[in-house]
Amino acid sequence: MVSLKTELCGIELDNPLIPASGTFGFGYEFAEIYDINCLGSFSFKGTTKDPRFGNPTPRIAECERGMINSVGLQNPGVENVIKNELPKLKACFNKPVMANVSGFSVEEYVYTVKMLDSEPQIGWFEVNVSCPNVHGGGMSFGTSPEAAAEVVREVKKVTSKPVIVKLSPNVTDIVAIAKACEDAGADGISLINTLLGMKIDLKTKKPVIHNKMGGFSGPAIKPVAIRMVYQVYEAVKIPIVGGGGVASAEDVIEMMLAGASAVEIGAQNLVDPYACPKIIEDLPRVMEKYGIKNLKDIIGGAH
Ligand code: SIN
Repeated sequence: MVSLKTELCGIELDNPLIPASGTFGFGYEFAEIYDINCLGSFSFKGTTKDPRFGNPTPRIAECERGMINSVGLQNPGVENVIKNELPKLKACFNKPVMANVSGFSVEEYVYTVKMLDSEPQIGWFEVNVSCPNVHGGGMSFGTSPEAAAEVVREVKKVTSKPVIVKLSPNVTDIVAIAKACEDAGADGISLINTLLGMKIDLKTKKPVIHNKMGGFSGPAIKPVAIRMVYQVYEAVKIPIVGGGGVASAEDVIEMMLAGASAVEIGAQNLVDPYACPKIIEDLPRVMEKYGIKNLKDIIGGAH
């Protein structure tokens, strides 16, 4: 009998699987097709202070071994999330959920976290400083150690819940940014968000995505994600949520060996909406194949 249990910032998870923000809505959409309580948790759609319609279309492009998105943080805004989305989430999910929060200024991050802080079902904040699809916010915080640290420092003042910072891979020194966030009080690091990419249509000879560029995700980025999780694990003491191209039980194990305490599944949810329950079902078989009894024991095992 193998154990899939793991722990993230003091909260026990039945298994390490966490559908990534932006690929799982507010959970109830997927609850129509399976019981989402089989998950470790999930990270809900990136929420901002004000409602956002997102970027003009086309904002999705299929690529080889992945996809580009330029959604632009479409969401109903924090007030509507609290009033309309969280009650529906609560009706179908009975575990702590991860609240993914974005902003265009430090004040906006603080406002949104403060608003959500009193929601009992929120177990962790995933502070997204890495969205590549919006100007003036998102990734611009995540490409500077000082700016990322400031967001963490200010957000920590308005919540006692664990603050996990979601980092961008579009940087030269991921370790410097992760360490700055840890020093500023972050309780965990989530990585990686998408890689900035582009696809050109040979018929129109123009970029497919309206905003020209977008965030590339899917199996093709997994080696980059594994490398960054490995590097950050060597540099910080706080837990890591690893993600980027994870699509199978084998990938989950690889990500945990690199140093992840929990694992996000993103693009694969869009390829196969049953991806997460299938991986959870497959994990015991793959663990047995590789002689693993407790998933918890393999965290950072590659070091
Ligand atoms: C988006 O809404 O543009 C995607 C979010 C992200 O990449 O952080």
